[in-house]
Amino acid sequence: MIEARHLSKLYSRGVYALRDLNLTIAKGEFLFLTGPSGAGKSTLLRLLLREELPSEGEVTVAGRNLSVLSSQEVQAYRRSLGFVFQDFRLIPRMSVFQNVAFVMRVLGVPVPVQQRRTFQMLKWVGLQHRMNALPDELSGGEQQRIAIARALVNEPQLVLADEPTGNLDPDLSLEIMNLLREINARGTTVVVATHDRELIRRVGRRAVTLDHGRITEVG
Ligand SMILES: Nc1ncnc2c1ncn2[C@@H]1O[C@H](COP(=O)(O)OP(=O)(O)OP(=O)(O)O)[C@@H](O)[C@H]1O
Ligand SMILES: [Mg+2]
Repeated sequence: MIEARHLSKLYSRGVYALRDLNLTIAKGEFLFLTGPSGAGKSTLLRLLLREELPSEGEVTVAGRNLSVLSSQEVQAYRRSLGFVFQDFRLIPRMSVFQNVAFVMRVLGVPVPVQQRRTFQMLKWVGLQHRMNALPDELSGGEQQRIAIARALVNEPQLVLADEPTGNLDPDLSLEIMNLLREINARGTTVVVATHDRELIRRVGRRAVTLDHGRITEVG
């Protein structure tokens, strides 16, 4: 699913965020990226999301080299992914329902299909009763579940999550992970960046450790 070859990222100020990184992630895999603050986890996810371009090397996702996509292809590519940010990035003026349905609306999915899928996802994350609420009327954990519902509503082949449990207590963190495990069990490839070693231990999937932009451990 994902092939990174000799991948390096040098930010303009001269910091190597990633250094000659080689990594293969299989289709259907659930993989953790871990390592200390500044290790390069978010940078790798940003390269996979095609928010950044590599300085050297290349990354292919489902056989497509992300460095050679046109801007239209980049947009289509991003919409084909599910992405969960640590800070949720829900749209504040839109209701929970509208937030989850938003990408389908942009893609021109028929309204009845938008409604059916949005209800299904809200039910799945246990928040259908809050569908008319605004994001800031929800708790952090509820907002995070909405962010996950939004990322998964389009049944993406690949889900990328950057510290999706960064603001949550251990029980809620595990609950979020269980949602991601469930979607993974249905065939979606999942990549999660987290510094939470205890959470990785409890979930028990392959973890790649980064330090100073290099892979130091695959466990
Ligand atoms: N836009 C940027 N410009 C310059 N340097 C950056 C930029 N973004 C990240 N860096 C640097 O790149 C390195 C890797 O950062 P990155 O955000 O990928 O780390 P991380 O592993 O996600 O850390 P954290 O656990 O704190 O989120 C760090 O040294 C960081 O300071
Ligand atoms: Mg980060």
